[in-house]
Amino acid sequence: MATIKDVAKLAGVSVATVSRVINKNGYVNDGTKVKVDEAIRKLQYEPNAMARGLATRKTETIALILPDISNPFFPELARAVEDVARTYGYTVILCNSDSEANKEKEYIHILKQRYIDGILFSSHSLKAEDVELMNKENIPFVVLDRAPVQVDCPVVRSKNFEGAQIAVQHLLDVGCSKIAHIYGPQEIATARERLMGYEDSVKHFDWFTPSLLVEGDFSIEGGKRAVELLMSRHPDVDGIFAGNDLMALGVMKKLHQMGIRVPDQIALCGFDGIHLTTITEPEMTTIAQPIYDIGMLATRLLIKKIEGTSENNRVHEFDVRLIPRGSTERK
Ligand code: RIB
Repeated sequence: MATIKDVAKLAGVSVATVSRVINKNGYVNDGTKVKVDEAIRKLQYEPNAMARGLATRKTETIALILPDISNPFFPELARAVEDVARTYGYTVILCNSDSEANKEKEYIHILKQRYIDGILFSSHSLKAEDVELMNKENIPFVVLDRAPVQVDCPVVRSKNFEGAQIAVQHLLDVGCSKIAHIYGPQEIATARERLMGYEDSVKHFDWFTPSLLVEGDFSIEGGKRAVELLMSRHPDVDGIFAGNDLMALGVMKKLHQMGIRVPDQIALCGFDGIHLTTITEPEMTTIAQPIYDIGMLATRLLIKKIEGTSENNRVHEFDVRLIPRGSTERK
């Protein structure tokens, strides 16, 4: 395999000159550049990406830190990130933090030493101070989906509060008269905002009582456990808004096992719009986030930051939309 020295020898220039041509830094006259390019072509020389990264401080690599890759919402997000990154010539390194603050910190520490050009982050534990530190260290950074309330970096996410209100209104529209909410972990902003949206929509109804709120953990099993508890408290509930699709899937399964019919006895609505919601019977009504668009915009913003053409740090919030399906279709 040809080395940079072979290229320099064939082109009749120094190794430093070849390096300047490859890394496009420093002046090289056009004639020398042509000679070097020809030598590279003849020898089929492939510059070592690592070495180039050391020279240019750029590796065309970005990291995507996600909290839970076993939840299909996040692979769907990652798909968009990878697609967009590739079109700009970037490679994506995927890090799964298992929603553990320590793992997230470890990843950031490791990534800083690996010449990553920037980081896309979806985290429940990220604090404004962490972002401040990353900014001080000049690490381009974009937060997507899960974000602390105020951070000094671009944030891309959905309108969670409004989405919850749309879900409740839909359940009311199909005739539900006692609607419960199974909410996600309250340290996560998206889960908190959906809970607030639900509360805001139901607080004035006589039937509302705080025991209609049951905690889940954004997982299928969490949804199953929560609905069991809910039915023991309120056997007369006739509508459930689950804070994400995975919990809604768990709720549907458990209700089926309990012999309770969806949608006739209980109408059920999830949140996210993951593909899995189309394969249940009945299909699941959901509040769909534009998952692909979130990943796409976040990646574009990060690349702009890396390339120094970014706009101000601000929060980009996408609209969500109701997809009415069989789980809320009452005859
Ligand atoms: O399903 C995972 C949930 O966590 C999604 O609703 C997403 O918005 C995130 O915060």
